[in-house]
Amino acid sequence: MFITFEGIEGTGKTTQIKLLKAFLEESGHTVDVTLEPGGSRIGRELRKILLNMESTDITGECELFLYLADRAQHVSQVIRPAVEAGKIVISDRFADSTIVYQGYGRGLDPKLLRSLNDVAVGSHWPDLTILLDIEPEVGLKRAMTRNLQENKMQEEGRFEAESLEFHNRIREGYLTWAALNHERIIVVNADQSPEKVSAEINSKITKILKKHG
Ligand code: TMP
Repeated sequence: MFITFEGIEGTGKTTQIKLLKAFLEESGHTVDVTLEPGGSRIGRELRKILLNMESTDITGECELFLYLADRAQHVSQVIRPAVEAGKIVISDRFADSTIVYQGYGRGLDPKLLRSLNDVAVGSHWPDLTILLDIEPEVGLKRAMTRNLQENKMQEEGRFEAESLEFHNRIREGYLTWAALNHERIIVVNADQSPEKVSAEINSKITKILKKHG
């Protein structure tokens, strides 16, 4: 089974992924956690280019194809082998990030992005996607604090440095895309305690796992 987490910056994806992994392992599953960009060796090189503050001269199309390149490598080297080995794979971001950031955010056509993603993903679209939703003001404050604490602003801060208007577009884009794909994407309110968010996710996943057998 393949599960992805999505959302704007600072929604608490990393914390929730850790909690979900522990919950699933307690129920006897083997879980691999991965991320985009940077889930493979080549992907880690691409991540440096994509998130560094110095990449201000990157074009929208170049950004798009680097994310897709990262994904193609990630699916074939990491995700597909683990899913085929019977593991549950959880990825921090995946194809929906491209549709929302490069599409709703940068203005590329979401339908075209869906088709380009098909090339990178093959048949490995997620079985389930959890969209953590939060007001951009709240999320950005959290993300900035984390980047400053970890001294990562220069290395990883290119998207956090975008305007609030950009992040509002991303949030709305996610909600629109989730409504169009409601059979796969579950929206969870991330503006509550981590324990409450986690309990909501666990109860939804339990129902889905029962259906999956
Ligand atoms: P993160 O690892 O802190 O979530 O940062 C990844 C950034 O990259 C985040 O701002 C969203 C952006 N992104 C895209 O624009 N398109 C994509 O396809 C992916 C995977 C991420």
